Amino acid sequence: MPQIIHERPEDAVLIEPLLDKCFGADRFKKTAYKIREHIKPLRELSFVTCEGDQLLATIRYWPILIGAVTPAVLLGPIAVEPALQGKGIGIALIRRTLDVAIELGHRIVVLVGDPEYYGQFGFLSASAHGLQLPGPVEDRRFLVKECGVGALKNVSGMITGAPPPESSEGHVATKPETNRLIATLPAFAPPADT
Ligand SMILES: CC(C)(COP(=O)(O)OP(=O)(O)OC[C@H]1O[C@@H](n2cnc3c(N)ncnc32)[C@H](O)[C@@H]1OP(=O)(O)O)[C@@H](O)C(=O)NCCC(=O)NCCS
Repeated sequence: MPQIIHERPEDAVLIEPLLDKCFGADRFKKTAYKIREHIKPLRELSFVTCEGDQLLATIRYWPILIGAVTPAVLLGPIAVEPALQGKGIGIALIRRTLDVAIELGHRIVVLVGDPEYYGQFGFLSASAHGLQLPGPVEDRRFLVKECGVGALKNVSGMITGAPPPESSEGHVATKPETNRLIATLPAFAPPADT
């Protein structure tokens, strides 16, 4: 059965080719990559969906600041093995990891992606909230999710990468508390809405 677990050191060699397949080699030129250039993904929020040795999907979150003062996380990239897209893997991975992000106390999640897809998770226009990115993106694809009521109140400004909290030494899970299974998915059936 496919499982969602923390990213492990051995996943790295499979993640990069999956990202190349899904986004192409040009992906490094994107504004989201520019933000992530000098920071590391959060270890406690780097997950993979796998089944045995097979990597099915990857998701990472990055520490950012809004307007230089408000901490938030940047979701992405998320990628699902092309042959397995459309089977509920992406929805399950996003839902479960957003739950973990909220459990960990994150209150604002930002991403660049299609509103038609991310709207179902509660993402709304980020520019309408006065958030800005340090490079070009299609405005409709710049999205934010407020995880707690009022989290975005009086929050606006430019998004920049933030140094990770001291508890986050690297982005892959090497400690037992971050080698966590967060979901077992039905064998490629759409996930339950839980
Ligand atoms: C986008 C992605 C993560 C979605 O994961 P997935 O497992 O394929 O999608 P799911 O099975 O969870 O969801 C499928 C539903 O979402 C819809 N969907 C998928 N991508 C979408 C998009 N970009 N815009 C609108 N709807 C989308 C599908 O049409 C499908 O809808 P349906 O159930 O009504 O038929 C995956 O397709 C992927 O890796 N794509 C390539 C990389 C990418 O674009 N990543 C996101 C960049 S922000």
